[in-house]
Amino acid sequence: MTSADIRQQVKALGEWFQNLDLKGVATAPRHYLGDYPANKWRQIGAALPARMDGLSVLDIGCNAGFHALECRRRGARRVLGIDADARYLAQARFAAEVLALEVEFEHRSVYALAAMRERFDYVFFLGVMYHLRYPLYALDLAARLTRQRMVFQTMLRGNEATAPPAADYDFWDGSPFAQPGFPKLHFIEQSYAGDPTNWWIPNRAAAEAMLRSAGLEPVAHPEAETWICAPTERADYVWERELAGTL
Ligand SMILES: C[S@@+](CC[C@H](N)C(=O)[O-])C[C@H]1O[C@@H](n2cnc3c(N)ncnc32)[C@H](O)[C@@H]1O
Repeated sequence: MTSADIRQQVKALGEWFQNLDLKGVATAPRHYLGDYPANKWRQIGAALPARMDGLSVLDIGCNAGFHALECRRRGARRVLGIDADARYLAQARFAAEVLALEVEFEHRSVYALAAMRERFDYVFFLGVMYHLRYPLYALDLAARLTRQRMVFQTMLRGNEATAPPAADYDFWDGSPFAQPGFPKLHFIEQSYAGDPTNWWIPNRAAAEAMLRSAGLEPVAHPEAETWICAPTERADYVWERELAGTL
């Protein structure tokens, strides 16, 4: 495929959210976040193993496949990307073809993970949670499938403070809710940044609390919006207690 062929196909596949380098052809060179997601990957990728030989990877909300393709480049044995938007998956499949990287892409919602029994060494859950009406449900489902690490990213708004959670709170004392480190999830009823699929935006304390509550212990925080987490026994407990019986 010549550069001209690639350029033409990139254009035919519609607007790209991720800026990929397809043999010198940039897919989203004027992205409002800069060279996204390569600019975030410099820090996130440095906190992950340089080689992923033998590992399996699930990329939830994979978009045009940037992270899935990067893991395959690092030698991951099995890489599966899922996304709810078929348009982005067409871009991902084209990118994999141009880069000659073997990655599977499936048209699936994160909620379909409820029916999945395969676990993955690494689960990427980047930029998806705030697009969901049922964020904690999705996080619980994803946590159960994580064998070694989850790489999690969310947009954050509000106070950046954190504080350890109390074991319990007094019903008559409203003061904890006014503390800057109290977890808060902001609900967007209409639209945020022109996008009506932005539903829940956490502050930092809420993002970390939700991860812990889903059985994901943050072990690294390579950049402001991203946590690398290890699964704890609580993920199975949540699955058995809250989810399995209801599905
Ligand atoms: C902000 S983009 C993030 C893309 C990529 N993970 C990244 O970090 O660059 C959100 C992605 O999540 C996908 N998405 C939204 N809702 C989803 C759902 N219910 N299940 C799976 N993917 C979803 C969108 O189609 C989109 O590709």
